[in-house]
Amino acid sequence: MKTIIEPFKIKSVEYVKTTTKDEREKILKRAYYNPFRIPAEDVLIDLLTDSGTSAMSAKQWAGIMDGDESYAGSKSYFRFEAQTKKIFGFKHIIPVHQGRAAERILFTKLLSEIDDDGRFINAGKGKYIPNNNHFDTTRANIEFNGGIAEDLVIEEGKHPSVLHPFKGNMDTKKLEEFIKKVGAKNIPVCMLTITNNAGGGQPVSMQNIRETSKICKKYKIPFFLDACRFAENAYFIKIREKGYEKKSILEICNEMFSYTDGCTMSAKKDAFANIGGFIAMNNDEWYEQCKNLIIITEGFETYGGLAGRDLEAIAQGLEEVIDENYLHYRIASTKYLGEKLLSKNIPIIQPVGGHAIYLDAKGFLPHIPPEQYPGQALVVELFRAGGIRTVEIGSVMFGKFDKNGKMTPADMELVRFAIPRRVYTQSHIDYVAEIMWEINDYKKKIKGIKITESPKFLKHFTAKFAPIA
Ligand code: F0G
Repeated sequence: MKTIIEPFKIKSVEYVKTTTKDEREKILKRAYYNPFRIPAEDVLIDLLTDSGTSAMSAKQWAGIMDGDESYAGSKSYFRFEAQTKKIFGFKHIIPVHQGRAAERILFTKLLSEIDDDGRFINAGKGKYIPNNNHFDTTRANIEFNGGIAEDLVIEEGKHPSVLHPFKGNMDTKKLEEFIKKVGAKNIPVCMLTITNNAGGGQPVSMQNIRETSKICKKYKIPFFLDACRFAENAYFIKIREKGYEKKSILEICNEMFSYTDGCTMSAKKDAFANIGGFIAMNNDEWYEQCKNLIIITEGFETYGGLAGRDLEAIAQGLEEVIDENYLHYRIASTKYLGEKLLSKNIPIIQPVGGHAIYLDAKGFLPHIPPEQYPGQALVVELFRAGGIRTVEIGSVMFGKFDKNGKMTPADMELVRFAIPRRVYTQSHIDYVAEIMWEINDYKKKIKGIKITESPKFLKHFTAKFAPIA
């Protein structure tokens, strides 16, 4: 087979800084061993996230210059609207400043009652939102509005080394049992995250989207997709699901969204934009209510917290991401890193997902118990050894504490190596693999880590840590 090459060439470069191990030790200490507190300038290879970190294309930059900054009804909004309608097909699409703003609006609307004056009151006690796996901001927006977020991914999706082509699938049997248990009237919406970020960037099959939709229709529950990585998901459907081999990515996207009532989207992922997102839906009444919320915090409905130039970049990005040639390279390049790690028996979630490698820290560092956060310990070691920034997706992010301070750990202890789109070359990725191979040789010496200070919501962003002596 021929080498799969980047389907682009580089027009503009950004230099990165190398540091010594001593310098990195000091940087870690100053950052309280939290990667979110490390100044980006001190990072050599930044795999913290694939969100907002894409390299924009020349055509996107041209769009930035061409953006129309009119307050209402700008030309850029109409381009954005036409492009999003072409792919997602929903009746109403409102831009927002990023994915979590879409979540906040959706869940404020769905988890509140609306009084005679149109005010949102009585945030939703006893309301449930099922999903394959809620991403952390999705969960936080639900819980912050008094709701309960329920993860119902298939069993295969909880075991890193178990192979399954669509490990992001919803367990539809469990979903139906759950609906019967808590009552359909207490479920204002059912979500499905494509691809399933918190579960390893794993895709959801068309069949599963269709079945989930059928169950939702049966119980009259609205069904939304968290669409951040919709194009990567569509590509997996094309290459893994029978009957889709010959369909275009656009046709697959159209079909995925046709089974649903709306979606939330962060344009910082598959739209290659540095900022932006949207909320989309078919229901006219919901749209009116969401618009009111948008105006309070995001802005007028045709810009939603974005500049006209951002809407141009998103519209152009959405055109580029449904190019099969790009997706072929994208998925192959993520797999390339995965295979390098597997060649030394480093445990990762298999099969490799779309936007990231998820290393199984529980399997890699079995001597560190979940209470000592093996994922966070490895995140720290990756920076120490090679200036590589990654993120823990495990008990730091999802561990729950009872009144006595005892922790129920997350299902998995993962370290995510998220690959920014069109940013790093193959030799950058080779370097990451070499650092992991080095760590693999001395991993028994790595020690656990403790939290010394932490907020209640989304603690991983700002918590402080210290190594366990
Ligand atoms: N949903 C999913 C599945 C996500 O991965 C994210 C963000 C969001 C919603 C929220 O979007 O950041 O634009 O507000 N994920 C980033 C990440 C932050 O690193 O995985 P946002």
